[in-house]
Amino acid sequence: MKAVKKAAPTIVVIFGGTGDLTKRKLLPAFYHLYLAGWLPQEFAIIGLGRTPLDDERYRTRLREGLEEFSRTGKPDPDKWQAFNPHITYLTSDINDPQAYQQLAQKLEELEAAWETRANRLFYLSIAPQFIGPATTYLHQTGLAPDAARDRIIVEKPFGKDLETARQLNQLLTRNFQEGQIYRIDHYLGKETVQNILAFRFANALFEPTWNRNYIDFVQISVAEQVGVEDRGGYYEGAGALRDMIQNHLLQLLCMVAMEPPVSFEAEEIRNRKADVLRAIRRLTPDQVNKSAVRGQYGPGWLRGNRVPGYREEPGVDPQSNTETYAAVKFYLDNWRWQGVPFYLRTGKRMQEKTSSITVQFRPVPHSTFAATMSENLLPNRLTINIQPQMDIRLRFTAKRPGLEMDLTPAEMVFDYGHSSTQAPEAYETLLLDALQGDATLFMRSDQVEVAWEVITPILETWESRPSLDFPNYSAGMWGPENAEALIAREGHTWAVSTHFGGRPKDQEPTKA
Ligand code: BG6
Repeated sequence: MKAVKKAAPTIVVIFGGTGDLTKRKLLPAFYHLYLAGWLPQEFAIIGLGRTPLDDERYRTRLREGLEEFSRTGKPDPDKWQAFNPHITYLTSDINDPQAYQQLAQKLEELEAAWETRANRLFYLSIAPQFIGPATTYLHQTGLAPDAARDRIIVEKPFGKDLETARQLNQLLTRNFQEGQIYRIDHYLGKETVQNILAFRFANALFEPTWNRNYIDFVQISVAEQVGVEDRGGYYEGAGALRDMIQNHLLQLLCMVAMEPPVSFEAEEIRNRKADVLRAIRRLTPDQVNKSAVRGQYGPGWLRGNRVPGYREEPGVDPQSNTETYAAVKFYLDNWRWQGVPFYLRTGKRMQEKTSSITVQFRPVPHSTFAATMSENLLPNRLTINIQPQMDIRLRFTAKRPGLEMDLTPAEMVFDYGHSSTQAPEAYETLLLDALQGDATLFMRSDQVEVAWEVITPILETWESRPSLDFPNYSAGMWGPENAEALIAREGHTWAVSTHFGGRPKDQEPTKA
C-alpha cells in the first residue's frame, strides 16, 4: 500500500455532500491528505446535496466542520485558502436523471481544463434506499465506465440481513465491476487495527504460538460511552449486532484469526479473511441462548451526569426491543483454532470508551514454584488496545525484586503515544487507498455476505423472541449481568472491568 506518493488526477463526487459524515470525517480526511502532500494538483471534490447552496456557502460549512472535528484543530488560514478552491457544490436530487447530466458536464469541464481523463471516485454516503437510483443513474449516464479508473465507495449499512445484502451486491455488480466497488468498514483503516498484520506477520516470535496449543481464548471488546445520539431512527432498525458485530467486530476477528497471507495483495488478504468467516461455526437457534447475550441500557450515570435510557432517546420506541449491547461466543472450525472461544462484545453507554483485543495464553503446564510464591501467577496475556488508548501490552510473570522468590505480573508495552508521527484517522488511510486503487482494506461482496450468514441465526432468534428483561443494564455500567455468565461457563472473565465494576483487571481466576 501507498508505494507512490501522489495519486493520479482525481475527481471525488460525494453523494450526501451536506451530510454529517462529509463534515465530520471525509472533508477533514481529504484536508489532511492534502496537507501531507498526498493529493495531486489536479484534484477536485464535488459535493452533491438537495440543499440549495453555492460553492462559497458550501466551503464555509465544511470549514466549520473542520474547525469542530479536525484532529489537528482549526485549519491554518493560508492552507485552507489554498485547499478550498478544490471544493465545489452541485445542488441535485439523487432521483432526478437531469442531475447526472449536470454532473457529467461538470466532470467533462474539469477534465478538459486538466487535459486528461481523471480518476473518478463516487462516494455514496447516503441512506440505503438511495443507493439503487444513484448507482443506476451513474451507470446509465456512463459516468463510471472505466473499471481501472472509476470507483464506487459504499458506506455501511450493507443491507439489513443476508437477503438485503445480496440484493445490494447484485444491484452494485449489475452496474459496476466488483473490482470497482469499495465497501468501507472504517475499523480496518484504524492504525492499531492495521498494525495487527504487522505484529503478526512481520515478527517471527508470535506466530508459532498463535494457535489452539498456546491460546486459551480471545476477547474482542468495543465499548462506547455514547448512546445512540441523534440516530435513534436508524438504530431502532439496526441494534448492536447489525451495527457493530456484523462488520467491525467480525473484521477484527478476521485480523486476529487469519492464516498468514502469501503476499500483501488485496485479493490474497481478503481471501484469508473470508476463510475465517467461513470457518465460524454457525449457531443453531437452540445454541443462541447459550452463546449470545443481548442488553439494552436504562437510565444511569456517566461522568457524574444523569443520562436517559435507550427507550427515552429521540426516535426510539418506548417499548423498544432493540439491543444496545451484544456479546457472542464463537468457535472456529479449522485446524488452528479448534476449541478456542472467541468472545465478542460491544455496547453503548458503557462506563468507558475502550476497544481492545485480548489474547490470553494458556497457563504454564506445571508450576515450579510453591503456592506461596506463585499467588500472583497469571497466564501470559497480549492486549492490543485499539482506541482511545493505542498500545500493545504483553503480560508476563517476573520475580518481584527482593530477597524472596515472589512472582508478580509485569508488562512489556509498545505505546503509539511514544512513536514519532501523529496517527492518521481511519478515513485518511481508507480514502488514500481508494484514491490509489488499493482495495485491501475494503470489503468484498462475499465477505459481507458470509458475515451476515454468521449472525443471521442470532438475529432471527432475537427477533422472534422479544427480550423480557429490557432495559437490563444501567447507562454507565459494563453491560448486563448475564454477559458474565456467558463466559464464566468456560472459567473465563472479561478482561476489562466487569458488570459490577468489581474485579480489577488482573485478578481474574485462571482456568482450573
Ligand atoms: C459506526 C456505528 O459504524 O461505528 C456507530 O454505526 C458507532 O454506532 C461507530 O458509534 C463507532 O466507531 P468508532 O470509530 O468511534 O469506534
